[in-house]
Amino acid sequence: MESCCSCRSISKLTSFTLFIAFLLSCSFFTSSEAYDALDPNGNITIKWDVINWTPDGYLAVVTMFNFQQYRHIQTPGWTLGWTWAKKDVIWSMVGAQTTEQGDCSKFKGNIPHCCKKDPTVVDLLPGTPFNQQIANCCRGGVLTAWGQDTANAVGAFQISVGQAGTSNKTVKLPRNFTLKAPGPGYTCGPAKVVRPTQFTTADKRRTTQALMTWNVTCTYSQFLAQKTPTCCVSLSSFYNDTIVPCPTCSCGCQNNITQPGSCVDGDSPYLASAISAGGPKASNTPLVQCTSHMCPVRIHWHVKVNYKDYWRAKVTITNFNYRMNYSNWNLVVQHPNFDNLTQSFSFMYKGLTPYDGLNDTAMLWGVKFYNDFLNQAGPFGNVQSELLFQKEKSSFSFEKGFAFPRRVYFNGDNCVMPPPDAYPWLPNASSRPIISLLQPVMTILAALAFLLAYA
Ligand SMILES: *[C@@H]1O[C@H](CO)[C@@H](O)[C@H](O)[C@H]1NC(C)=O
Ligand SMILES: *[C@@H]1O[C@H](CO)[C@@H](O)[C@H](O)[C@H]1NC(C)=O
Ligand SMILES: *[C@@H]1O[C@H](CO)[C@@H](O)[C@H](O)[C@H]1NC(C)=O
Ligand SMILES: *[C@@H]1O[C@H](CO)[C@@H](O)[C@H](O)[C@H]1NC(C)=O
Ligand SMILES: *[C@@H]1O[C@H](CO)[C@@H](O)[C@H](O)[C@H]1NC(C)=O
Ligand SMILES: *[C@@H]1O[C@H](CO)[C@@H](O)[C@H](O)[C@H]1NC(C)=O
Ligand SMILES: *[C@@H]1O[C@H](CO)[C@@H](O)[C@H](O)[C@H]1NC(C)=O
Ligand SMILES: *[C@@H]1O[C@H](CO)[C@@H](O)[C@H](O)[C@H]1NC(C)=O
Ligand SMILES: *[C@@H]1O[C@H](CO)[C@@H](O)[C@H](O)[C@H]1NC(C)=O
Repeated sequence: MESCCSCRSISKLTSFTLFIAFLLSCSFFTSSEAYDALDPNGNITIKWDVINWTPDGYLAVVTMFNFQQYRHIQTPGWTLGWTWAKKDVIWSMVGAQTTEQGDCSKFKGNIPHCCKKDPTVVDLLPGTPFNQQIANCCRGGVLTAWGQDTANAVGAFQISVGQAGTSNKTVKLPRNFTLKAPGPGYTCGPAKVVRPTQFTTADKRRTTQALMTWNVTCTYSQFLAQKTPTCCVSLSSFYNDTIVPCPTCSCGCQNNITQPGSCVDGDSPYLASAISAGGPKASNTPLVQCTSHMCPVRIHWHVKVNYKDYWRAKVTITNFNYRMNYSNWNLVVQHPNFDNLTQSFSFMYKGLTPYDGLNDTAMLWGVKFYNDFLNQAGPFGNVQSELLFQKEKSSFSFEKGFAFPRRVYFNGDNCVMPPPDAYPWLPNASSRPIISLLQPVMTILAALAFLLAYA
C-alpha cells in the first residue's frame, strides 16, 4: 500500500518536472527570438559614456558587460560593429582598434584611425603596451560569463569621435549595432540614452559623471548562431549495464566518405596532417573525431553509487574536436535534486535561480589551473568530477530515469539528450507495470471465483 502511494507521488512529480521541462524546451526551440529560459535576463550591454566634448566631437569610453550567467565569448573574441548616423570619423582609439581604416583621403595632416561609415572594432591582444591600454581592455576579445568570473566579464575601450555632434543636443547616436562572437548569434537593439551615469576612471580611484550615456543591449539566440547542436549527452548507471549513447547524428551526419575531411579517426595515420590542413585559416572550423554522434563535445552522466541518504553521479566532459581547446568551459545542468547538492568534487559549483522557487539548475565549471582547460581531442581531452546529492526521502527514486539530468548546456549551448524512453531502467522496472496491470485483473478473478464458489 505504502509503496504504491509513494510510487504515484513520484510519477506525479516526474511528469510535472517533465511537463515543465517540455514547456521550457518548447519555448526554447520554437522561438527564434533571443530567449533562454534558464537565463531570462541574459544580455550583453554596451555602454557609451561621453567623458568629454571636443571641438569637433566627443571622447567616450565604451564598456561591454557580459551579463549572461553562463555564456561567454571565447577566443578569437568579440567583434563590434555599428553604422555612424552622420559623417563621423574615429580620430583615435585606446584599448581596441578597427579592422579597416577605410578611405581617409580627404584628410590632410592629421589622419583619423578610421573613416569607414560602418567601422568594425576588435579588442587588442594581451601584452599590449601599457600606454595603449585602458582598464578592462586587451584580453583578445574574451569575455567570461557573469556567473563564473564577473571580474573578467567586462571589456572596454576609449574612442575619440570627430565630425560628430559636440553636445548632448546635436550628437547623433550610432545605429545598427552588430556583435559577433565572432560568429552570428547576437541581435542588438537600438542605442538608448540613459541619464548621465557615474563613471569610474581607468585607475578605479575616482568616479566622475559622464556627460551623456547611451546603452545598447544585445541578446543571444542559439537558433541564430548555428543550426546544428554542438554537444550531446550519454548516460549510464550502476544498476544497469546499458550505456545509453548520444543519439546518432546528434550534431550532424557528415562522414568522411560523403564529405571527406569533415571528421577524422583517432587512430588514422593522417591525423596530424588533417589537423594542420588548411593552415591557420581553418583553425576555426571544427575537425571532429569520427563518432556516431559527430559532436565536438560529449557529456557523460554516470549514476555511480547509492548510499542510504546520499547518491553520487560522475560527470565526464569529452572533447572530440581536434582544433579546439576550451578554456573557461562551463556546464549548466538541470536536475530536481540540485536543490540539495551536498558536494561537487573538483568542479566549481553555483546554483542558478532563473525564477523564484526554481532551484533545480546548477552551473559547473573547472577549478582554475586544475581542470578549467579542456584540451583538444586526444588522450587529455576530457575533464571529470563527481557530484554528491542528499536524497530527498519523499521523492527520491532511481525509477523513471530520475537520477539523470533533464537538460544540459555546454558553454551555453543546449546539448542533445537521449530520448527519455531510452534511459537505463532499474533491473525490475520493466516487470512493474505488468504487476500493477495484473493486480486488478487478479482481484476481479478472485472475486468472481469467490462468488461462483458460494453462489
Ligand atoms: C540586461 O541584463 C541586466 C543584468 O542582468 C539587466 O538588469 C537588464 O535589465 C538586462 N537588459 C535587458 C534589456 O534585458
Ligand atoms: C544636456 O546637458 C545639459 C547640461 O549638462 C543638461 O541640463 C540637459 O538635461 C542635457 N540634455 C539631455 C537630453 O541629456
Ligand atoms: C540599419 O539596418 C536596417 C535593417 O537592416 C536598414 O534598413 C537601415 O538602412 C540600416 N541603417 C543604417 C544607418 O545603415
Ligand atoms: C545601461 O547600462 C548600465 C551598465 O550596465 C546599466 O546599469 C543600466 O541599467 C543600463 N540602462 C538601461 C536603460 O538599459
Ligand atoms: C578522410 O578523407 C581524406 C581525404 O579523402 C583522407 O585523406 C583521410 O585518410 C580520411 N580519413 C579517414 C579517417 O578515413
Ligand atoms: C591546445 O593546447 C595545447 C596545450 O596547451 C597546445 O599544444 C595545442 O596546440 C592547443 N590546440 C589548439 C587547437 O589550440
Ligand atoms: C528550492 O525551492 C524549494 C521550493 O521552491 C524550496 O523549498 C527550497 O528551500 C529551495 N532550496 C534552496 C536551496 O534554495
Ligand atoms: C535537503 O534534504 C534534506 C533531507 O531530505 C532536508 O532535510 C533539507 O531540508 C534539504 N535541504 C534543502 C536546502 O532543500
Ligand atoms: C537497462 O535499461 C535498458 C533501457 O535503456 C533496458 O532495455 C534493459 O532491459 C535494462 N536492463 C536490465 C537488466 O534491466
